[in-house]
Amino acid sequence: MNTRETVTVALGDRSYDIVVGDGVLAQAGALIAPVLRQPKTIIVTDENVAMRHLEMLQRSLENAGIAHDCIVLPPGDQTKNFNQLQSLIDALLSRGIERSSTIIALGGGMIGDLAGFAAGVTLRGLNYIQIPTTLLAQVDSSVGGKTAINAPQGKNLIGVFHQPRLVLADVGVLDTLPHRELLAGYAEVVKYGLINDLEFFAWLEGHAAALLDGNLEARRIAVVKSCQSKASVVAADERETGMRALLNFGHTFGHALEAEAGYGDTLLHGEGVAIGMAMAFDLSVLKGLCDAEDADRVHRHLSTLGLGFGLEHAQGMIWDPERLIGHMQKDKKVQDGKLTFILTRGIGEAFVSQDVSREELLSVLEETIAA
Ligand code: GLY
Repeated sequence: MNTRETVTVALGDRSYDIVVGDGVLAQAGALIAPVLRQPKTIIVTDENVAMRHLEMLQRSLENAGIAHDCIVLPPGDQTKNFNQLQSLIDALLSRGIERSSTIIALGGGMIGDLAGFAAGVTLRGLNYIQIPTTLLAQVDSSVGGKTAINAPQGKNLIGVFHQPRLVLADVGVLDTLPHRELLAGYAEVVKYGLINDLEFFAWLEGHAAALLDGNLEARRIAVVKSCQSKASVVAADERETGMRALLNFGHTFGHALEAEAGYGDTLLHGEGVAIGMAMAFDLSVLKGLCDAEDADRVHRHLSTLGLGFGLEHAQGMIWDPERLIGHMQKDKKVQDGKLTFILTRGIGEAFVSQDVSREELLSVLEETIAA
């Protein structure tokens, strides 16, 4: 299989392509060359990704006559902080980066967010290219221009909107991902079905196992479909003043669980999102908005794959509903003191709501925790 597909994020003169396929990394130089202002790049990556994929990228850039330097950061989401941002900007400036140079972010969500933010603010804005190497980054964080670092007060609280010039999603590189990370990324794939595409959800019910087992065609279809969905939402609402909020489906619950678990190995982002999406269905059922059958179907799909609430890694956690609500109140999406939720009228029918009472929230949290 060597099929390559391109999805365009339509944002006028800031439009860009997402190229999806197997073997895209090896062709990166040729794909990147047309979007460069000068043949000079700086790759930003982390130690783990560098070990697996850096050489191939460097070779491909050399073959295309593109100069490259490289900055390798420590791995892990704790790298997404002010100190690392400062060292990264320091490193960029001391290597003589120019306005027309391009940053290449090679890695997962952490690298994309940090390098994208550095690109957004260094010399008042540099071009950058995303080469996401995790499923989560390929279907979500590398697309749409959200960049950020974490603050002591919470995740992703400091950042800018800064769109990349190009995204290269090589589904072949997903083979090197640990199964747990792949599965966590899958939560963001299934999210697109749940928010507005029942047909895609049904396709995933039939193909998720193959996708997770390494079937490249299933992976390509899932990444393309997810990117098409994200591209159309971002094109319609780049700055999240409306429908882009739908992409946060399951995230208000998920972020609270992640915050309580300490943003580490206990609960990965996608695992929190999967549990959060199931809770969003339960909340919608409780409010009489959605059929219990739809919620059951979602629970079944997620837990069959190993994305249910009884996650092995989180077994030691004692979840307290009041503490979780406390985390939710620090969410970026709180507006006039009100929590924002994405609720649903059924699979593929999500909508934004601020109409959730504390009692309803407590009831869903208590039920999930007790299950
Ligand atoms: N990850 C949600 C968004 O990009 O809006």
